[in-house]
Amino acid sequence: MIVQGDIDKTAELSAYEKAAAEGIDPRCSPQHLPQGGAPIGDEITYPDYPALDHDTWNILFDRQVKLLKGRAGDAFLQGVEILEMTAGSIPHLADLSAKLTEATSWQVARVPGLLHEKDFFELLSERIFPSTDYIRGREELDYTPAPDLFHDIFGHMPMLTEPAFADFYQLFGRAALNGRGVDRIKLERLHWFTVEFGLISQEEGMRVFGAGILSSKNEVTHALSDAVTVHPFDPELVVEQDYDVWHLQDVLFALESFEQLVDGFKSWTRSRGLL
Ligand SMILES: [Fe+2]
Repeated sequence: MIVQGDIDKTAELSAYEKAAAEGIDPRCSPQHLPQGGAPIGDEITYPDYPALDHDTWNILFDRQVKLLKGRAGDAFLQGVEILEMTAGSIPHLADLSAKLTEATSWQVARVPGLLHEKDFFELLSERIFPSTDYIRGREELDYTPAPDLFHDIFGHMPMLTEPAFADFYQLFGRAALNGRGVDRIKLERLHWFTVEFGLISQEEGMRVFGAGILSSKNEVTHALSDAVTVHPFDPELVVEQDYDVWHLQDVLFALESFEQLVDGFKSWTRSRGLL
């Protein structure tokens, strides 16, 4: 028997929910935003997470905070405080969005998984950070092939409270929308070696601000070890540097300040006619 309510329910499924129902790991295939866009800020509802998910957050949060002592940059650590993240329970995206808006006029959108580039760049260009709201399974504590909420929330959001970085990320979105061909590849490298794997030189020593390092147990100890060659940040060099997503990084770049990132990015993108 077909019940009207069931039909309506199926029609309302997101691409993520449909893929999950079909047994595909939806996190691994880029998706377009649902029609009508993604829920933003207060429109985002808080999922009914099982206790196991909160425990996973707790384990990951506790472990990373301990590992990040003396390794994470000041901006990131301040961001964790501004966003009032704790080990206790998975934060609500709507609350994080409100705090980001207060700090740097960014908002959060709840997205179903990896986004197609154009959707991703469009959101960034509007100062909207796309975040997932599901957490990795227990068998993926050390590594997950695609973003989950721990990477998106813990790895990325604290840096969005840093005013210069926040401006840079919006500029990145705008430039990326204009990038074609080789420029798109160069922009991906700039993203990789800053947003995901960036280092910053502080008075006390080298520190991490890239989300790919901050949210990973293995990357965080590796990034500041002797196994890595660190070059001073220079957009002209970064855009020529290849990277391998499947292995620990052996070349990284270090900023002097986030203002240097904004200035360097502006001058490089203007030289390419992207901004
Ligand atoms: Fe990321």
